[in-house]
Amino acid sequence: MKRALITGITGQDGAYLSQLLLGKGYEVFGVIRRSSHRGVEDHRLRWLGIADRVTLLDGDLADLSSLVRIVKEVQPDEVYNLAAQSFVASSWRQPILTANITAIGVTHMLEALRAEKPDARFYQASSSEMYGLIQEEMQSETTPFYPRSPYAVAKLYGHWITVNYRESFGMHASSGILFNHESPLRGVEFVTRKVTDGVARIKLGLATELRLGNVDAKRDWGHARDYVKAMWLMLQQETPDDYVVATGRTTTVRDMCRIAFEHAGLDIERHLVIDPAFYRPAEVDVLLGNPAKAHRALGWQPETSLEQMIVEMVEADLARLRETTR
Ligand code: NAP
Ligand code: GDD
Repeated sequence: MKRALITGITGQDGAYLSQLLLGKGYEVFGVIRRSSHRGVEDHRLRWLGIADRVTLLDGDLADLSSLVRIVKEVQPDEVYNLAAQSFVASSWRQPILTANITAIGVTHMLEALRAEKPDARFYQASSSEMYGLIQEEMQSETTPFYPRSPYAVAKLYGHWITVNYRESFGMHASSGILFNHESPLRGVEFVTRKVTDGVARIKLGLATELRLGNVDAKRDWGHARDYVKAMWLMLQQETPDDYVVATGRTTTVRDMCRIAFEHAGLDIERHLVIDPAFYRPAEVDVLLGNPAKAHRALGWQPETSLEQMIVEMVEADLARLRETTR
């Protein structure tokens, strides 16, 4: 039985990846941060019905000693480093924390592996945010980076330190440059979930408006359930490498919103309010990924359209809200 260790197991991708790996017969271990609200952190794992099937170990990406202890204990075959301060907007308010976790935390994880399990295969959760002010209309593995937020700068460090450990120490370390991916398990501060939760609230009479920032921004959105398959595929390759994972289609925030409002039978013009409070100090105007290498080398294809995903998210939020307001 293969053993996988996932940092960020309590996040969106960690939950879907755990589900995928359990289905493949892996023994799944995850790093969980100590919290005074113990009992709620695993809500995504519970939503998927797999909380009892994974082993959670106390640790933090800021604490190298905890990672060394965990790697020594678990002796993982594969390590997926998904933990991060992942909300771009917060990274201007907490730039140093973002650097400590999202950048230096990657080196902590790599050092723990180098010391305790150097032959483990390593996946780093890199991001399309690294392209920022895009240098090519469609971004691929060879497009130059131009980060536009403290988050993106930190992710760029994480990406290059992964490449560097691969080249310096021969580690099987791969970097997945994933474009935006969403699901009913997305954090409610990210725009798709904010929209589907907001639309569900309006539909149920719990709110009258939805306040958003820059609705002209464009993103290449896919489903997290599809994207975690690409992570796993990367670690099944003989040689480690870097891959863009995207759909190859870009859509404005406004058009993504329209899908949600239309599905709920609501008029977007009556409820959407533009609020400059949600503008960012520097914006990433458009992202559009070229997943040709992932198609070719990994045989990976996205299976869920944006429309299907937004409908799934609206329905999940309606069900959740009906349950909690009953
Ligand atoms: P997420 O839902 O925000 O999950 C982040 C996870 O990191 C959570 O489990 C969180 O734990 C954990 N974490 C944060 N700080 C930590 C620390 N100091 N020590 C240990 N764990 C810590 O993010 P996601 O959407 O699943 O994304 C997974 C990864 O992919 C992230 O690195 C993200 O930056 C990257 N990424 C995401 C996308 C996307 O569109 N979703 C695209 C490209 C790259 P708590 O539950 O305790 O908060
Ligand atoms: N969150 C949010 N809230 N975003 C808004 C809002 C709002 O009210 N209004 C407009 N937007 C715009 C943002 O300005 C941005 O251009 C776009 O919607 C997407 O924002 P997010 O959903 O917060 O995602 P992100 O693209 O900044 O970052 C996500 O994707 C990255 C990959 O490209 C995160 O998951 C990152 O962790 C990930 O690396």
